[in-house]
Amino acid sequence: MSASEIREVRVELGERSYSVRIGPGILDGIGEAVRTLCPAPNAAVVTDSNVGPLYADQALASLRQAGYEAHCVTVPAGDGSKSLDQAAKLYDAMAAARIERRSPLIALGGGMVGDLTGFVAATWLRGVPFVQCSTTIEANVDAATGGKTAVNHPAGKNLVGAFYQPRLVVMDTSTLDTLEDRDFRAGLAESVKHGAIRDTAFFAWHESHVEPILAHEPAALADLLERNVQIKAAVVAADEREAGLRAILNFGHTIGHAVESLMHYEWRHGECVAVGMVAVARLAVRRGLMADADAERMTTLLRAFGLPTEIPARLAAEDIVRLTKMDKKVAAGRVRFVLVPRFGETVLRDDITDADIRTAVEEVRAAS
Ligand SMILES: NC(=O)c1ccc[n+]([C@@H]2O[C@H](COP(=O)([O-])OP(=O)(O)OC[C@H]3O[C@@H](n4cnc5c(N)ncnc54)[C@H](O)[C@@H]3O)[C@@H](O)[C@H]2O)c1
Ligand SMILES: [Zn+2]
Repeated sequence: MSASEIREVRVELGERSYSVRIGPGILDGIGEAVRTLCPAPNAAVVTDSNVGPLYADQALASLRQAGYEAHCVTVPAGDGSKSLDQAAKLYDAMAAARIERRSPLIALGGGMVGDLTGFVAATWLRGVPFVQCSTTIEANVDAATGGKTAVNHPAGKNLVGAFYQPRLVVMDTSTLDTLEDRDFRAGLAESVKHGAIRDTAFFAWHESHVEPILAHEPAALADLLERNVQIKAAVVAADEREAGLRAILNFGHTIGHAVESLMHYEWRHGECVAVGMVAVARLAVRRGLMADADAERMTTLLRAFGLPTEIPARLAAEDIVRLTKMDKKVAAGRVRFVLVPRFGETVLRDDITDADIRTAVEEVRAAS
C-alpha cells in the first residue's frame, strides 16, 4: 500500500452515512470536499489555541478558495474548554457569523475540539452540518468517528451531549507531526484496545510495527488509522446509540475512568485506558477468563508504546472500586465489565465483585 494514497472508509448509517478520508496533506482539499456536501455561503472553523496557529490558515484558505465566506473561532486548548460556557461563546460566534441551517461547522483539532464543536453543531438551529478535521491520534482512532458529542459538567465528564454524526471526517496525517510525543503515544492505547476487542491479527500487527508507528512512518500511520476507523465504523454501524455492541468499546475504560478522575486529569485519557486495560486483563486472568500469556502480551505492547502499565501507588484501591460504580455506564447499580477472553473476542460481565476489582488493582499498582 502506498503511503501517499488517500484511504477512504465509509460509515454505513443509512441516510446518515459518511466518509472518513485519511491521507497526508488532505487538509488542503477541505474546501472542495465540504463544498460538494454542504453548499452554503458561509462556513465556520472551530479550533483551539494550539492547533489554530498551526493549521487554521490552511483550512481557511481552502474553504475560501472553494467560495465560502469562512470564519474561524479559537477556544483555549485543554479539556476545560469542553464546557457549556464555551459552547455559549460559540453560539454567540455562530450568530455573529450568520451561520444558517446549511452552513458547515468544521472542527479542526483533537477530541476536545471535536466533541465541543459537534455538540454546538447538533444544537445550533437544531442542527447544522458538522465536519471533523481531526488532528490527534486519539481523535483519529476513536473520537472523530461515531457521532458522540459532548461537553463536560461539574458532576462529570461528557454528561451533556448528543449523538450527532458528522457529514465528513478528514484525517490529514501530516498534522500528526506536530503532536506532542506524549499525546501521540496516549492515542495508541485506543488502537491497542480496538485490536484486543475485535481483531487479533491487528493486535499482532501492532507488536510487529512498534518502531515504524513511533517513527511516524506514513505507511504505518495510514494503515493504523484506516484499520481503526474500519473497526470503529463497523461497531457504530451495528449499534449507533450504544444499545448493545458499542459497549465493547469501553474495554479498559471502567477502571481507566476511575484512574483518570483520581489523577485529576493530569494523565492523558489514553494513559488511563492503558492501565485500565492491564488491570482488567489481570482481573480476567484471576477469574479464568483470559490466558495469562495474553495479559502479558498486552502489557508488553503497551509498555513498548511508552504507556503506563501500573496504577500509581498513591491511588487507593478502595477509591478505584468506589469510582467504578459512578461510571455513567453502570446499569441498575451493576458495573458491567468488558473482558477479552481471547484477542478479537469480548464478553460483558456484571458479576465482577469489589474484591475482584480490589485484587486486580493491587496487582497492577506500582510498589512506590
Ligand atoms: N466522542 C468520542 O467518542 C470520544 C472518544 C474518545 C475521546 N473523546 C474525547 O476526546 C478528548 C481527548 O482527545 P485528545 O486526546 O485528542 O485531546 P485534545 O483535543 O485536548 O488534544 C490534546 C492536545 O494536543 C493538541 N493538539 C491537537 N492536535 C495537534 C496537532 N496536530 N499538533 C499539535 N498539537 C495538537 C491540543 O491542543 C491539546 O493540547 C476528551 O475530551 C475525550 O473525552 C471523545
Ligand atoms: Zn477512550
